[in-house]
Amino acid sequence: MPTRDIAVARTVAALREAVAAWRGRQERVGLVPTMGALHRGHLALVEAAHRQCQRVVASLFVNPKQFGPREDFTAYPRDEAADLAKFRQGGVDLVFAPTVAEMYPGGFATTVQVGGIGDALEGAHRPGHFDGVATVVSKLLLQCLPDAAYFGEKDYQQLLVVRRMARDLDIPVRIEGVPTVREPDGLALSSRNVYLSPEERQVAPSLYRVLNDTAAAIGAAPASIATNLDKGLAALRQAGFVPDYLELRDAADLSPMSALDHPARLLTAALLGRTRLIDNIPVMPR
Ligand code: PAF
Repeated sequence: MPTRDIAVARTVAALREAVAAWRGRQERVGLVPTMGALHRGHLALVEAAHRQCQRVVASLFVNPKQFGPREDFTAYPRDEAADLAKFRQGGVDLVFAPTVAEMYPGGFATTVQVGGIGDALEGAHRPGHFDGVATVVSKLLLQCLPDAAYFGEKDYQQLLVVRRMARDLDIPVRIEGVPTVREPDGLALSSRNVYLSPEERQVAPSLYRVLNDTAAAIGAAPASIATNLDKGLAALRQAGFVPDYLELRDAADLSPMSALDHPARLLTAALLGRTRLIDNIPVMPR
């Protein structure tokens, strides 16, 4: 069903019919899951999918299950017409935009929970969040059954949770990570950046600056990881953030690290006013 020149499937049946036709022609299919409010970070996911696949499906679904009771589900920015236009410009072949009732019909009772990787960091600060993500993403992967699905590294823990879930459940889809897209001043693109006041927007790039400063300090003095993380937290507070965490974790499984002896990820989440920002960067041993 075309909507302003882009095909939109509202049902799982319509999605499967389109994907089956492409599969029948041996075309590789890529899936880009989104909650809309699209920015260049999402379009980078679409571009990555185009580089590897002949057909690109994007999903557009604000998933109620991944929002906590005090989070912004109802306020989350929604503009389907604008999102469809962006997907069309990005050359997306099909948008899957189901209703909540199509995704979670009456009696829906299953939750996918990824232990370990999903428990710390965002999992600790947003209880239930990754259960909602893993549940919706496992459904999207099984509904579409693409060859590959694309996720931004900005949500690094989400990427690892999804990868673990797909492996554990034997879902035959490659999970691809795509580097974070940033504003020229370093702020990671996020649909929630629209919540920032002009003053907060000036301060927001400090999150990335502190990540880089802390990574450099840890690289220069790998024996002082804890001290440098404390200095980083202090720098965030000084800039005006209320940090939830700033942590150095194993890049492969997010386990805690006491020595920088293998690839790591420095991850942070912090409130700026009422907006919660997250970001992360790789840290390599020398
Ligand atoms: O990253 C997001 O936008 C969402 O968590 C995702 C992966 C689309 C699942 O709802």
